[in-house]
Amino acid sequence: MRDAEAFRLRWLGRKQGRLKLISEAWLKSGPTDARKPLGIRFNQLKQQIEEVLTSVSLRIQKVLEGEERVDITLPGGVRAPGIPHPLLKTMNEIVAVFHHLGYSTALGPQVESDFYNFEALNFPPNHPARDTQDTLVLADQQAKPSRDRLLMRTHTSPVQIRSMIACAPPIRIVVPGKVHRNDAADATHSPVFHQVEGLCVDTNITFSDLKGTLDHAMKALFGSSVKTRFFPSFFPFTEPSADVQISCIFCSGAGCRKCKQSGWIELLGCGMVDPTVFASVTEARRKLNPADDAYNPAKITGFAFGMGVERIAMVQHGISDIGHFYSGDMRFLEQFA
Ligand code: DAH
Repeated sequence: MRDAEAFRLRWLGRKQGRLKLISEAWLKSGPTDARKPLGIRFNQLKQQIEEVLTSVSLRIQKVLEGEERVDITLPGGVRAPGIPHPLLKTMNEIVAVFHHLGYSTALGPQVESDFYNFEALNFPPNHPARDTQDTLVLADQQAKPSRDRLLMRTHTSPVQIRSMIACAPPIRIVVPGKVHRNDAADATHSPVFHQVEGLCVDTNITFSDLKGTLDHAMKALFGSSVKTRFFPSFFPFTEPSADVQISCIFCSGAGCRKCKQSGWIELLGCGMVDPTVFASVTEARRKLNPADDAYNPAKITGFAFGMGVERIAMVQHGISDIGHFYSGDMRFLEQFA
């Protein structure tokens, strides 16, 4: 009852009540033509407060007179505080592993130009390697020169180019983000998915640095007993390129259904940054500073890597259908609380 009275005084008190203050600050000193609409709003507010007060005092009265009872044994309302989505959780975990190694986060747009997504990464126009990326392009772009045409980025690699054009080496970045491909959805594919890209450029960066960094990252994500191996592969923007496999975490390498009896699970792509990529970056930087030589491959080298967040999360949690991540099914999501 006392609280109700304090509430009444706080709002309706004649001297210090908020309504009184509002009326002085806004109504009385307001411009003449605004007074009418303000007055109407003011009266509505006053009425609302009075209604709440009356109904609260009535209920309190009833409880006090024993007409209405509060059952204090009833369970309280349960508030679900919410948790990060499992994909976001895995993405943050990956990013944190690299933050601890001194990397910072860089981000880029999902609607990207052909130049950043392909050309500067050494996918020339009409190159067959573009076919592996099943690109979703924006409509009505034909009138533009090919490098300016817009598309949905097919990977997070274009942020490598944006970052190198913006900053001289040394560079150490991780790039989490959403990517898009014209893929039919099935148990392991989704037209929208997530990647984390990495880039390290400095003097004397070698393939051993790449191996050591990724071996550490895989152990941090999957446990210290995990082994890694590097297989020759191809990406237009790295030379040499490799696919990284980890020893199967389900059978410790003995061979099972999850690893197709091979004992190994393929997880990501990587390689040493191709000098052609440094050349594209230098060309773009020289438009701003004709003498720029920061990415001269005779002075610096670098490595890069890219991994699918869904793929990593599926291996971490033994999930066999990518569709679970997007279903919004609480029975699935609550398991990660
Ligand atoms: N961009 C590649 C893809 O989406 C993944 C990748 C591979 C990124 C090798 C890299 C890399 O930076 O060095 O398939």
